[in-house]
Amino acid sequence: MSKQLWKPGTMVYPVPAVMVSCGTMEKSNIITIAWTGTVCSTPAMTYISVRKERYSYDLIKESGTFVINLTTERLARATDFCGVKSGRDFDKFHHLGLTKLSGSFTDVPMIAESPVNIECKVTQILELGSHDMFLAEVLGITIEDDYIDSTGKFRLDLARPIAYAHGAYYTLGDALGTFGHSVMKKKTAARRKNK
Ligand SMILES: Cc1cc2nc3c(=O)[nH]c(=O)nc-3n(C[C@H](O)[C@H](O)[C@H](O)COP(=O)(O)O)c2cc1C
Repeated sequence: MSKQLWKPGTMVYPVPAVMVSCGTMEKSNIITIAWTGTVCSTPAMTYISVRKERYSYDLIKESGTFVINLTTERLARATDFCGVKSGRDFDKFHHLGLTKLSGSFTDVPMIAESPVNIECKVTQILELGSHDMFLAEVLGITIEDDYIDSTGKFRLDLARPIAYAHGAYYTLGDALGTFGHSVMKKKTAARRKNK
């Protein structure tokens, strides 16, 4: 097997590309963020890493709040746009025709067109280098009814979520198995499949 040794760089892909809304209903913005993820289950905690020079940086730092809005195939263009244009120059919500939805826990507008809105409160800011990491606690999650099936199961797959890898956006492929399928008894797997 032949391999190459590369110098350190950003190589953990694919990752989500989320639209982070920030500010207030009156003065809002959206920034696309790929450096994000879950860091703790209980309490539910997440992070976003943001360069100081982003217009969104001060909005998030001042309020200590932001909303992670998950992205979908339908939002792919808007996701890219919010990642190449600055809110310093114009109102991204207005320009993209996106709808502001009031949150339950913060004054930050959520993006109605996103299937999942995650309201977050910053607990720590870590200065790491190129980016500052906003470590945050999840305050609440708003989910669109269309993606909860009749059994109450959350079906994000129906929203056609997107991922980001090495400069491009992708939809997800086929499901390969559920959590624990590698050790599941054949009978159980067959029963679940037929449900
Ligand atoms: C797919 C994608 C992912 C990005 N991820 C990040 C990120 O994690 N952190 C960051 O500071 N900027 C990231 N950016 C760049 C910002 O989204 C971009 O500079 C944006 O225009 C800043 O908006 P603002 O000036 O309105 O805050 C990303 C851009 C794209 C297209």
